[in-house]
Amino acid sequence: MQVVIKADAAAVAEYGAAIFIKQITQQPKSVLGLATGSTPVALYQQLISAYQAGKLSFSQVKTFNLDEYLGLAAEHPQSYRYFMQQQLFNHIDINPDNTAVPAGSATDPLTACQDYEQHILDAGGIDLQLLGLGRNGHIGFNEPSSGLRSRTRIKTLTKETIADNARFFKADEYQPHLSITMGIGTILDARKVVLLATGTSKAAAVKAMIEGPLSASCPASALQLHQHAVVVLDEAAASELNDIEFYRHIEQENQMLLQRLGRA
Ligand code: GLP
Repeated sequence: MQVVIKADAAAVAEYGAAIFIKQITQQPKSVLGLATGSTPVALYQQLISAYQAGKLSFSQVKTFNLDEYLGLAAEHPQSYRYFMQQQLFNHIDINPDNTAVPAGSATDPLTACQDYEQHILDAGGIDLQLLGLGRNGHIGFNEPSSGLRSRTRIKTLTKETIADNARFFKADEYQPHLSITMGIGTILDARKVVLLATGTSKAAAVKAMIEGPLSASCPASALQLHQHAVVVLDEAAASELNDIEFYRHIEQENQMLLQRLGRA
């Protein structure tokens, strides 16, 4: 796991966006895994700016979102499909047919989960997966106790996650307690994974993910098994790490090595 610590949330977004811009530039037909939540919004804004400046095209890109609330239609303002339209897709040149979000309003959600896995396979698998981090260590909606090899399926949300996400719903509005999410196994199959976490509310989950045991109690700890996972943190999210100086040292060594090899 590569641990990158940046000064603040803006620098985290910039670092994450640079990885996506490089990926799309080098491989215009990239298959991207995308995430919702507040954390990726600033990264999406950077991608939109790069597109508007003529530096980036999404015309051949395919995307698969991590998760969706079960029971919300695409047009619902709290659905993750709606979020992606507002925060990214409506502002770039992506073909709408190439954007996939799990079917939250499917009449047969169990089949929809299997179809989603097949759809990812048919696209050739995910090249680069973006992740946020729940306060309880969830990735996508893989809540604690999720199988570490799980595939796309229906998951029950914890009370904590429902409370965390209540801020997006009006007081009298129906808030789903079930979701469709890529599994941890699905996420681990991505060729590269970039997880962003900012703020002190994520510090405990960040510590468990990086320094804790590999455990279904912290689903994000499964990234310890990934060959190419990059975790980008701000100072606040990194504040509970025991070995913070070592991670900074590794990054310095990495940068020097890349420069020496002419690959910086
Ligand atoms: C939701 C999403 C996750 C996301 C998490 C954190 O539960 N399903 O994919 O990582 O929220 O969101 P935020 O970035 O707003 O803290």
